[in-house]
Amino acid sequence: MAEAEIKKGLAGVVVDSTAISKVNPDTNSLLYRGYPVQELAASCSFEQVALLLWTGELPDDVELADFTAFERSHRALSPELKQIIDALPTTCHPMDVCRTAASVLGAQDPTAEDSSREANLAKAKTLLAGMPAVVAYDQRRRRGQELVEPREELGYAANFLWMTFGEEAAEPVVDAFNVSMILYAEHSFNASTFTARVITSTLSDLHSAVVGAIGALKGPLHGGANEAVMHTFDEIGIRQEETAEEAEARAKAWMDDALAAKKKVMGFGHRVYKNGDSRVPTMKAALDAMIEHYDRPELIGLYNGLEKSMGEAKSIKPNLDYPAGPAYHLMGFDTPTFTPLFVASRISGWTAHVMEQLETNALIRPLSAYNGPDERHLA
Ligand code: SDX
Repeated sequence: MAEAEIKKGLAGVVVDSTAISKVNPDTNSLLYRGYPVQELAASCSFEQVALLLWTGELPDDVELADFTAFERSHRALSPELKQIIDALPTTCHPMDVCRTAASVLGAQDPTAEDSSREANLAKAKTLLAGMPAVVAYDQRRRRGQELVEPREELGYAANFLWMTFGEEAAEPVVDAFNVSMILYAEHSFNASTFTARVITSTLSDLHSAVVGAIGALKGPLHGGANEAVMHTFDEIGIRQEETAEEAEARAKAWMDDALAAKKKVMGFGHRVYKNGDSRVPTMKAALDAMIEHYDRPELIGLYNGLEKSMGEAKSIKPNLDYPAGPAYHLMGFDTPTFTPLFVASRISGWTAHVMEQLETNALIRPLSAYNGPDERHLA
């Protein structure tokens, strides 16, 4: 066989088709089932978008009411799962708690081994409904706070914030959080989604695919970047008393040093988007709304300083994680909770891809070029 060219990281390799989303770096656009994500973020709830990703169409009033009733009645953290979470040390990463919870929910699901579309759609809905309570409780227990039960009269975003902070969030915060959930929901064959598809391609179960996807998302080159962005802000130092201009100057100096030291600065760059991440303007608007709501102008100085310095030095633009990190910080989430928020949202995209993979499945098994020792034999 001729020496095949290795495509490291599968960069630029088209391995399958998908009808779920279209990422177009040429037009810098992202479509969910044909709808521009900006339009969905401006006028839909995360619940509506999850149904769009799963079914291919936005729900009508009856379909939305049915799903809303299901989601709201499946939010509570079961005593068994709470007991398992309590057994995990608060020193472990919250992504490990998400990964464990997804596995427990699978083990507890009597339909876990049923890979029919109907059963997988029900599992997807149950996982999407149940993960917020896991993420919210895990942050609370690390703060020495008690579990807050869900409230069925609140929508997904408002209830997520209620369970996390034990108080009703202001409307601008709920809106910004809902926008972030929609923007994080789906992004074609990113590393965690492709992981889910690889696991599904062996005909393993949906929960195993989600557990593997959570493992992939944890990495700072992928979902973990939103936490890393906040670590950068903290390293530069957030000084509420300084002006945006002063913060910007310090941020630029930090970035100049980081790039001089050849550091990879998380929150910037993207494997597919090379002229900027299509989702950033929408998430940046949500961040600006949070900065205004909480009156924290110095944060926009840090944001602008890093962006300008990276842009001038390497023409590399921010990705979604860059505005999402500080926005979650302003909402009150602890930094290690940021990527679990990404999990809660991306459960919709991952499970949509699990169901799509099964429709025209082929075992995913690429080749490798051997560069080890020539054949040799024991004495
Ligand atoms: C997500 O795939 C998806 O769709 C993912 C995602 C989704 O919704 O699922 O969009 C979510 O994961 C967004 C990305 C979050 N990750 C980060 O913010 C981590 C920092 N970014 C980089 O590690 C990098 O940009 C990647 C990993 C995202 C993409 O890297 P590539 O395409 O493999 O490109 P590369 O690492 O080879 O970089 C090309 C050049 C290099 O310069 P040279 O060494 O050739 O001189 O650009 C430089 C890199 O050094 N570069 C960076 C950089 N990103 C690229 N330099 C400094 N800081 C960075 N962030």
